[in-house]
Amino acid sequence: MSEKLTSIEPDPAPQTGMRKVFVKTYGCQMNVYDSQRMADSLAAEGYVATDTPEDADLVLLNTCHIREKASEKLFSALGRLRKMKDMRAAEGKEMTIGVAGCVAQAEGEEIIRRAPTVDLVIGPQTYHRLPEALARVRGGEKVVETEYAIEDKFEHLPAPRREVTRRRGVSAFLTVQEGCDKFCTFCVVPYTRGAEVSRPVAQIVAEAERLAEGGVRELTLLGQNVNAWHGTGDDGREWGLGELLFRLARIPGIARLRYTTSHPRDMDDALIAAHRDLPMLMPYLHLPVQSGSDRILKAMNRRHKAEEYLRLIDRIREARPDMALSGDFIVGFPGETDQDFEDTMELVRRVNYAQAYSFKYSPRPGTPGADLPNHVDEAVKDERLQRLQALLSSQQYAFQDSLVGVETDVLLEKPGRFAGQIVGRSPWLLPVIIDGNTDQIGDIIHVKITATGTNSLIAQKLT
Ligand code: 5AD
Ligand code: SF4
Repeated sequence: MSEKLTSIEPDPAPQTGMRKVFVKTYGCQMNVYDSQRMADSLAAEGYVATDTPEDADLVLLNTCHIREKASEKLFSALGRLRKMKDMRAAEGKEMTIGVAGCVAQAEGEEIIRRAPTVDLVIGPQTYHRLPEALARVRGGEKVVETEYAIEDKFEHLPAPRREVTRRRGVSAFLTVQEGCDKFCTFCVVPYTRGAEVSRPVAQIVAEAERLAEGGVRELTLLGQNVNAWHGTGDDGREWGLGELLFRLARIPGIARLRYTTSHPRDMDDALIAAHRDLPMLMPYLHLPVQSGSDRILKAMNRRHKAEEYLRLIDRIREARPDMALSGDFIVGFPGETDQDFEDTMELVRRVNYAQAYSFKYSPRPGTPGADLPNHVDEAVKDERLQRLQALLSSQQYAFQDSLVGVETDVLLEKPGRFAGQIVGRSPWLLPVIIDGNTDQIGDIIHVKITATGTNSLIAQKLT
């Protein structure tokens, strides 16, 4: 999962008199997707998106709780919003402030107690109740909604309108699964997002078709544990993610598929076979391992050994030799010794990642890891993180350099920073900068990679 801060794309031509909503997203792609769905359900209520909080009638902060400082970040953002709300009130205008996402789920009413400026707290499973919750806020209530079953959300959240999809671009997220039953001992997700729930095939296919009609060419299936997705297929058989990918591949217009985030335990044979037999399943896989030490993997409750992960990587690379691998790592989990850390470094050398995220362990209240003895010194965590990141960066640059001279297909996504440039996406997720014009957006063209930038590739179109 990548850490990003994004706001919902503003409506280009709002009609006068419409209410404005500003949505700020913290954390993972699932939150980005949820923010878009919240904006969609608010659009039906007459709200348009704006990208500045100052002129918003409604501000929604979609929060992340995965690591420390989430609450501090939230409360300082709320302090700034309180001032804006007061300024608007002085002009006779209202501003409703809502907190959504995983901090909302974890802290509930406590948020309103600490920051009375907040009008609404809404957990990730309850977004379909947003319009109703806002009506109650307008009636003078402070509302906390964190209780409902996730199936309701899946059924009732609207898919985006076609023109909205067009504005959002040719690559879209689609949530197929939410929640997690794995209970890794460092992680809050099983508590904030709840138990694993898979969306039914028909719902997923309908949303994918709707996105494709709106011009989407590339779908990224989302789930906290996306490869644990399962359901009854339209052939009546039990499907896993591999079968679902084959089904989505048949939708006209869809040219590329991706999925994230996966757990090594759920990489089954059918999914590996999909990587072999489905060329439109892109050769990029985010498969977190967290540590290369069996002792630490056990303490983390990851339920596999380092060697098992390495064997799995071999099988995936056999199925798809051009696969670029990405991972997540935690350094300084309680009890991690120098040797445990060296085992992680060794695993990284053996896998050779194209890209990775790494973090210092941060104890999350309520998780078993927080109560373990032998917490690692901050200075030791810092030093380990630096060494690990240096190794991962060198692998990332080596991967990018290895692509120079390679011919590949690129999906053209958006205008580049300079006139006459266009940004596309390589199969390995890295952006590619090419000369071209915006009427080609949505096309897939054949290019030769000529150079690398910091986090991008430069390419020339081949005719
Ligand atoms: N401390 C540090 N990193 C964490 N992650 C999850 N929980 C913690 C924590 N308590 C990291 C894991 C996970 C990614 C999304 O965030 O590496 O895969
Ligand atoms: Fe958290 Fe582990 Fe579940 Fe991933 S698999 S969401 S790290 S508990």
